[in-house]
Amino acid sequence: MAEDHITSLLKESRQFSPSAEFAARAHVSSMARYEEIYAHAVRDPDGYWAEVARELRWTKPFTKVLEWEAPFCKWFSDGRLNVSDNCLDRHLEGPRRNKAALIWEGEPGDVRTLTYLQLHREVCRFANALKRLGVCKGDRVCLYMPMIPELAISMLACARLGATHSIVFGGFSADALRDRILDADAKLVVTADGGHRRGGVVALKDAVDEAITQCPAVQRVVVVRRTGSKVAWKEGRDLWWDEALSGVSADCPAEPVDAEHPLFILYTSGTTGRPKGVVHSTGGYLTQVASTTRMVFDLGDEDVFWCTADIGWVTGHSYVVYGPLANGATSLMYEGAPNFPGLDRFWDIIERHRVSIFYTAPTAIRTFIRWGEEHPTKHDLSSLRLLGTVGEPINPEAWMWYHANIGGGRCPVVDTWWQTETGAILISPLPGATPTKPGSATRPLPGIVPAVVDKEGRPQPPDKGGFLVIERPWPAMLRTIYRDPDRYRAQYFSQIEGKYFTGDGARRDTDGYYWLMGRIDDVLNVSGHRLGTAEVESALVSHDLVAEAAVVGRPDEITGQAVVAFVTLTSGTIPSDEVKHDLTEHVAAQIGKFARPAAIRFADALPKTRSGKIMRRLLKEIAGGSSAQGDTTTLEDISVLAKLREDEE
Ligand code: PRX
Repeated sequence: MAEDHITSLLKESRQFSPSAEFAARAHVSSMARYEEIYAHAVRDPDGYWAEVARELRWTKPFTKVLEWEAPFCKWFSDGRLNVSDNCLDRHLEGPRRNKAALIWEGEPGDVRTLTYLQLHREVCRFANALKRLGVCKGDRVCLYMPMIPELAISMLACARLGATHSIVFGGFSADALRDRILDADAKLVVTADGGHRRGGVVALKDAVDEAITQCPAVQRVVVVRRTGSKVAWKEGRDLWWDEALSGVSADCPAEPVDAEHPLFILYTSGTTGRPKGVVHSTGGYLTQVASTTRMVFDLGDEDVFWCTADIGWVTGHSYVVYGPLANGATSLMYEGAPNFPGLDRFWDIIERHRVSIFYTAPTAIRTFIRWGEEHPTKHDLSSLRLLGTVGEPINPEAWMWYHANIGGGRCPVVDTWWQTETGAILISPLPGATPTKPGSATRPLPGIVPAVVDKEGRPQPPDKGGFLVIERPWPAMLRTIYRDPDRYRAQYFSQIEGKYFTGDGARRDTDGYYWLMGRIDDVLNVSGHRLGTAEVESALVSHDLVAEAAVVGRPDEITGQAVVAFVTLTSGTIPSDEVKHDLTEHVAAQIGKFARPAAIRFADALPKTRSGKIMRRLLKEIAGGSSAQGDTTTLEDISVLAKLREDEE
């Protein structure tokens, strides 16, 4: 698949420059200016980052910038600050005091707007409620919530106290939630009686109840009333949100913490069955998230910024909550599905709230294309001035459709490359400066030094594919994997000595533009959600009827990649549609519905090398519909392959 991708992208020669009008009012308004800032940051990285960090409010100014003992870094380590203070209190002193911080729309159509002053009050009250429930600085709090304002309030309340939040996406199952609560050793969970999604209700509280039967450290569960659904209740442990708030004061000074204090843990898929708890810092994270939001989205005071990501993923952490609020901007948050009640919901939201910056995923764009352009055409999208994408490579045709049909041909498109681990955007156009090429994330942001290298770490010449690495540390990078520094080192700094290994393939063209080619490891990207093949495999083999399983990705027009599972059943089990259904539901229960295989194929045996390694490359070819032409000389039993091919026909 990667090969095809390279070939098709190589043919791409269209280029779009920002209009003079856009450039004139942009934060960075020419390539010359970008080159100047970039060169300064390369020459004097500490000077550059210190200048950027000083735009935040520090309770105690830092004197140190980077301390690098590879692969561990500290940034601004002797400085102290608070994220909630920077996202809220700081804006109460000027004209932003009564400006909308969050405009929230629920799926049923209810709308709530919270000004900075109002949001500050809610955050202070909930922080006091958490304190009363025994949450202290350094504790971990798990948030398993729908996209409602109380989620942002909970994050900021944790940050205010110096408690570390761990958000688990509401699509994860009870089992996945349990594993994450246990790994982070969270003592309190915040959830809701449900969330609205596609006209139905997501039963979050049930999953929490099930998960924490095995989490003895969880003392309290705070439950937001959202849907009014009936939920089971455990007196003494469960507490309604409004009860938790009753009688609390709205006065709660923000607790200054060290810049390196962990702001949050976020679990992400890797190449083993166990998800990794990516740990992010306070000072470095906020520095870079704030500056990239400003630069990449050219954010101004009049903008209404809508990032459609769920806060349960890193994009929502950085670009629904922390980045926009650190800039005193207005962030729009939507609870539900893009096709409820109609296929034009997103465009309706843009029209009614006059959204000016819209940031979404290529998989969503491909879905919109399938639904047809009559849906956006029905709405006045003239408020839009900038579009963004994130999560996977965008195919040039989807880029062109987005540019023409949503952006009306006038809005620059920023294709932003980054990862859960990077914390913030690293490679992206600056919309007032960079001429864009559909399908390319273009150039690195100032302070970021990527390279494309071969297995030995040797730089590749222009247009030659290789591994994308980042040569120097950056402030928002992950600090470690929670309680597993060895895995951190092994995963990110052992492949190419001393350099951060992204796990992505890329090439750089003769203009220095980066073209991302997808993961080169066993991590899939399904609808912009990261999923380790090993995770799905371990879910499958935990089923009684499964002897062995191998999971690979197959290209998919809408979701980017789809999960295909090859399964060998235990002897005596007869393959059937019913077994397929059971296995699919088993994966949903173990991980979440979004991880369900698109196809399950039964095989008497899986193709293996003589040393017993499953030959995934061959399975990928078979799953992708080609007949596994690759090198099979190391295959242990050639008849296995012939059998799989036959089954295909
Ligand atoms: O493969 C890259 C892809 O998404 C991966 C990171 O996934 P996750 O940690 O879930 O974070 C997603 C949102 C930041 C990357 O390793 N990816 C992300 N953005 C792009 C991308 N691939 C190509 N182009 C992008 N703009």
